[in-house]
Amino acid sequence: MTGELSPIDKAKFVAAKRAADMVEDGMRVGLGTGSTAAWLVRHLGDRVRDEGLRIKGVPTSARTAHLAKQVGITVIPLDEAGTLNMTIDGADEFDGDLNLIKGGGGALLREKIVAAASEEVVIIADAAKEVGTLGAFPLPIEVVPFGWTTTQILVEELLVSADVMGRRITLRMNAGKPFVTDEGNYILDLHLSRIGNARQLAMALNQMPGVVENGLFVDLCDKVIIGYSDGRVETRDINEGTVSEDRIDFAETENLFSDI
Ligand code: 5RP
Repeated sequence: MTGELSPIDKAKFVAAKRAADMVEDGMRVGLGTGSTAAWLVRHLGDRVRDEGLRIKGVPTSARTAHLAKQVGITVIPLDEAGTLNMTIDGADEFDGDLNLIKGGGGALLREKIVAAASEEVVIIADAAKEVGTLGAFPLPIEVVPFGWTTTQILVEELLVSADVMGRRITLRMNAGKPFVTDEGNYILDLHLSRIGNARQLAMALNQMPGVVENGLFVDLCDKVIIGYSDGRVETRDINEGTVSEDRIDFAETENLFSDI
């Protein structure tokens, strides 16, 4: 199965596998959104099926909920879980302090609520997601549809005095119409090229009327697991200040997900 994967998918696959192995019986687990998180959900489904792992998953999007149910994971709403033992999610960018840009898949609001409810947040990524400074990936912000053009003007004004390099803003579209999030909102993508002060920008954006949440995840991530296409995985723990490396053997996973 893994022999058919592209190098980037192999990297995502092994990062997700390492993270899935960290999940323990009885845990309440936040399930991220995106292609890397989808691998995680499949790996967890595999453990549920083969090992009888009992977990309760809180998905961060309707599509993750659909996949989780499909692979046999018990899904509960965040309101039932209250708090979570662990959340595992992907990211669009991470820096050396493990601050993130998220929301490429449009699920940043639920992702941030779920991350904030978690004792431990683990990010899974391929190595291309690592940056020196955040901002090359357009920063998504979730805005209320009512008066979104006014909100965009206010954000443009805010960016004039912000420590960023670019200021172009685009409304995210889907099949000719505005992309609508699971919470019924729109996404504005901020093409900033470089974000000098992520914490300051995140706080300023969230003070703006009409902005529901922004895709900067500052001080939320505890660990990042970086996957490589040759099977290597590197785990960085920001709290312990440790870096460890090991390898996933593709041969052991050959019969996984034969149905996909
Ligand atoms: C969704 C996200 C995703 O985690 C992010 O876009 C990464 O996606 P992928 O794993 O497909 O590269 O934030 O809102």
